[in-house]
Amino acid sequence: MKVLVTGGLGFIGSHTVIALFDAGYTPIILDNLSNSSRRVLTQLTKITGNEFEFYEGCISDRALLSTIFSAHKIEGVFHFAALKAVGESTVQPLSYYHNNVSHTITMLEVMAKHNIAKLVFSSSATVYGDPQYLPLDEKHPISATNPYGWTKVMVERILQDYCTANSDALAIALRYFNPVGAHPSGQLGESPNGIPNNLMPYIAQTAIGIREQLNVFGDDYDTHDGTGVRDYIHVQDLVAGHVDAFKHHVKDVGFHPYNLGTGQGYSVLDMVAAFSQSAKCTIDYKICPRREGDVASNFADASKAKQYLNWQATHDLKAMTDDSWRWQTNYPKGLE
Ligand code: WQD
Repeated sequence: MKVLVTGGLGFIGSHTVIALFDAGYTPIILDNLSNSSRRVLTQLTKITGNEFEFYEGCISDRALLSTIFSAHKIEGVFHFAALKAVGESTVQPLSYYHNNVSHTITMLEVMAKHNIAKLVFSSSATVYGDPQYLPLDEKHPISATNPYGWTKVMVERILQDYCTANSDALAIALRYFNPVGAHPSGQLGESPNGIPNNLMPYIAQTAIGIREQLNVFGDDYDTHDGTGVRDYIHVQDLVAGHVDAFKHHVKDVGFHPYNLGTGQGYSVLDMVAAFSQSAKCTIDYKICPRREGDVASNFADASKAKQYLNWQATHDLKAMTDDSWRWQTNYPKGLE
């Protein structure tokens, strides 16, 4: 069964390509290389032994999408292609709404023309805004605190309305908590452009000496050690959730949101300590003021995915930091 993976050379997309291939699917990759590199394709072949069909381009290119959908019997689309930096979204909101929302609408229109009715959407726990209770379940009110988060809220709303209007449509929204780690082969992982926004890649680059010191954004939160607590989930667990969700719902219709998290929160200093174990080195850090927009704690109630998809995270914190460190040491500068 052929599926299209948009953003298939990105961090989550590329790991999903491997998981789909291993599950017997034929992933076709579409990526505009705005935040990834063709070298990921080489790594995908190195890991799987398979040459993947790749199209360079944007999901907003109607002609290109039609070419792909005419050339391949696509059963479903795994949609990762989006801009994803919270800070950047506050500075360039129009670019985020254009890329993440209107381009998705264009893709949905072309999918409809080609009778492709199944979509797995890369959503985010950021759609819960400031948590009103914890752990976060799928019934928590939806809102956002930044344009990036609003683009995820809007696309989910669009998908719900689309499924209401089209009785054969299926849309699965997977709400990621904090994806970390790397493929166990050490041949694929996160390659952030420039200075990493996220904690784990910053810690990894500090451990290997690319960064001087980690800035810990605040140690005065109401948490066990004062630093921010998040639900870090190994990318391999995350992508397994995509395959399990598609397999479970492939004959269904309607809109189905799921949290993909571990249910376990770790603080910044917990992550620093765990990474120090993996890298067998001290991670230098300094306590700085809180980062605008951060919340104290955020972690998942993932029981719905367990109940309906029979999915749960299986990789522990040591696996997250071991796999991240292996990738960082193999490719200190990522895949240029
Ligand atoms: C984690 C913790 C920081 C960097 C973001 C997006 C979210 C999702 C995941 C896309 C916080 C602290 C961080 C640093 C630090 N992305 N920190 N020093 O903000 O929970 O979530 O990425 O869907 O939408 O919002 O992740 O890794 O940036 O921060 O102290 O250099 O680490 O304060 O407590 P976040 P993060």
